[in-house]
Amino acid sequence: MTRIGIIGSGHIGGNIARFLAHGGHDVVVSFSQDQGKLDALADAALEQAGGADALAGKAVLDTTNQFGQVGGRFGVLDLGGKSAAETNAAKAPRAAWVKAFNTLTAGFQASSSGRTGPGRVVMFYATNADAAAPAAEALISDAGFDAVRTGTLARTDVGHQEPKGDLYGEEFHHDDAIAAVRRLRGTIPAGTGRP
Ligand SMILES: NC(=O)c1ccc[n+]([C@@H]2O[C@H](COP(=O)([O-])OP(=O)(O)OC[C@H]3O[C@@H](n4cnc5c(N)ncnc54)[C@H](OP(=O)(O)O)[C@@H]3O)[C@@H](O)[C@H]2O)c1
Repeated sequence: MTRIGIIGSGHIGGNIARFLAHGGHDVVVSFSQDQGKLDALADAALEQAGGADALAGKAVLDTTNQFGQVGGRFGVLDLGGKSAAETNAAKAPRAAWVKAFNTLTAGFQASSSGRTGPGRVVMFYATNADAAAPAAEALISDAGFDAVRTGTLARTDVGHQEPKGDLYGEEFHHDDAIAAVRRLRGTIPAGTGRP
């Protein structure tokens, strides 16, 4: 059993809390924003967890996607050539940052978790911290999915599982996912999503 802290218990965080509690883990969920609206999302959420120092040496699973206002409309933010994962990881440089649970809608994750056999759904993940990979894979498996690593937090790896990447927003199964990662890893994402 691992003690898991979840910052934000909305669609995705709530799902993961249920998956992992069901898998026998001790899950602690962050408080809701009932004192008013908090706007500096990532920074404030990190503060709630005790700040960057409190996360040193801990594995952090980042489920977020870089959506925001682009030219006055909802869209995918331009992070200056960096991946969203490495942009966020820079806020807690001594944490073992893992990007996961971001490619599929919360509704689909809830309905497809726990499948067995060839239809078991893949959850892509990426990290620079090789030592954190086994724990990340175990949690993904306990949550009811097959873990497939896209690589590091560099845009040429994790970028393929972020919005507009080929692996984003699509259901993959194990062999299909391994082949796709082998094809894409180390390349600049085309920026169009899965053909
Ligand atoms: N929904 C999806 O299908 C989906 C799929 C893949 C990835 N994602 C990504 O996952 C992330 C979460 O999405 P979601 O759909 O789960 O959002 P959500 O339902 O709106 O939940 C967000 C949670 O974060 C909390 N929160 C917001 N700002 C906070 C702050 N400053 N400090 C602490 N807690 C804060 C919210 O608290 P309150 O309840 O008090 O507002 C809420 O519990 C997003 O980046 C999204 O792009 C979403």
